[in-house]
Amino acid sequence: MIPEKAGPAAVIVLAAGAGTRMKSRTPKILHEIGGRSMVGHALLAARSINPRQLAIVVRHERDLVAGHVAELDPSALIVDQDEVPGTGRAVEVALQALDADQPLTGTVVVTYGDVPLLSAELLAELVATHEKEANAVTVLTAVLDDATGYGRILRGGDGTVTGIREHKDATDAERLIGEVNSGIYAFDAGVLRDALAKVTTDNAQGEKYLTDVLALTREAGGRVAAVVTADRWQVEGANDRVQLAALGAELNRRTVEAWMRAGVTVVDPSTTWIDSSVTLDEDVRLLPNTQLHGATTVARDAVVGPDTTLTDVTVGEGAKVVRTHGSGSVIGARAAVGPFTYLRPGTVLGEKGKIGAFYETKNVTIGRGSKLSHLGYAGDAEIGEDTNIGCGNITANYDGEKKHRTVIGSGVRTGSNTVFVAPVTVGDGAYSGAGAVIRKDVPAGALALTVAAQRNTEGWVPANRPGTRSAELAQAAAQDSSSTPASTEEGK
Ligand code: UD1
Ligand code: MG
Repeated sequence: MIPEKAGPAAVIVLAAGAGTRMKSRTPKILHEIGGRSMVGHALLAARSINPRQLAIVVRHERDLVAGHVAELDPSALIVDQDEVPGTGRAVEVALQALDADQPLTGTVVVTYGDVPLLSAELLAELVATHEKEANAVTVLTAVLDDATGYGRILRGGDGTVTGIREHKDATDAERLIGEVNSGIYAFDAGVLRDALAKVTTDNAQGEKYLTDVLALTREAGGRVAAVVTADRWQVEGANDRVQLAALGAELNRRTVEAWMRAGVTVVDPSTTWIDSSVTLDEDVRLLPNTQLHGATTVARDAVVGPDTTLTDVTVGEGAKVVRTHGSGSVIGARAAVGPFTYLRPGTVLGEKGKIGAFYETKNVTIGRGSKLSHLGYAGDAEIGEDTNIGCGNITANYDGEKKHRTVIGSGVRTGSNTVFVAPVTVGDGAYSGAGAVIRKDVPAGALALTVAAQRNTEGWVPANRPGTRSAELAQAAAQDSSSTPASTEEGK
């Protein structure tokens, strides 16, 4: 095995802020885009550069955030910020926690929990530049048309970075600067530790600013530099739901484009939504209005859509899934699903099988080549191979208190409107007649009929519905009956 390239000493993810503009009971960084929380995206980017340690600083809604982080990344060190406000203080408490065993040496990267589009590549480039240039501090910056609110990058006459001025502390002239601080940096651990000890709260917001570290480092003779990115999305945070939607749409645009470049046909990228966690093979075709979520995977030559939403669904090679809403299901190779089909968790459709129009399935295993073509419900059932379930069949799996299983063999043919009153077993090669209510097991090869006598009451309609169109037509038919054979009374 090739050892993973050793990354920086640590990444510190800042996530203590309140995020009040979201106007939500859910902490800002737990809001999702692309099927993953913002902090989930931030943790993945942080992990991508293989840091020896990863710390995340929390305070607002501490328990919710810490619980979520522990689920996503159990080895992340969760650090509580105290009542001293500011990004400088957040990094200081993280550094103290990381230094606990042994003072860190080497590169320490700082990122934000609410900047979800930052890529592994850009973060790696920041660290590589920092280490190659032997900088004390390297800050990731971007040039924006509207830099309002951001810290501005101050540069000397020779173009070198001299410091960062927060918007609220900036002069009118400084506010004209378009180059902004992303808040993402690489620091030398020792430089960061020494500078943070000197940072005060003497500014417009009364906070310990991390940004002050740059000027302090310059004064101490350290090299300060910037990596400027042309991709503003990668440094953008989501403060409110408008920005959240914009970032979500941009993330999706990137995800869809990456899949197209990897060989997936996407007929309408603007109505196709693919979570970051989905995987697709070459020659998959996605038709308009398709949403793929969670751990969904789609194999080669499968066609999904239009108007289909799949969550945690495995779609086999060459399968076709049309106008379907599905979750927690497996669709076999060359199988067909839809249109208007609802696959609930535990549905496993075998190779070349079919679940057709207006079918709902749950917790059902359907063997190779078996077909449930139209109108029905199959739940808590097992169906063998090459079985044909007729139109309108239903597994009556619920007795009002408990669920029961229906087991249907291979090569079975069921008549329209058969009801299986579970628990019940149907043997291989058995048949059922139309409208059968199967309450008892059906042996292999048997025909199961539920025979309810049909009685025709002759002349009932003209006698009981006189003057109606039905009655008129019935009378006309009776007059014609000389030329057509008389109907016989059945079932006597
Ligand atoms: C900060 C930068 C600013 C930069 C901008 C980019 C400082 C002083 N300013 O400003 O130069 O242009 O980010 O978005 O650093 N946080 C904590 N603890 C705190 C305060 C903040 O963990 O006490 C976290 C927040 O959760 C957030 C990040 O740090 O993830 C930035 O905080 P925020 O308040 O948004 O910083 P800005 O004032 O926007
Ligand atoms: Mg702030």
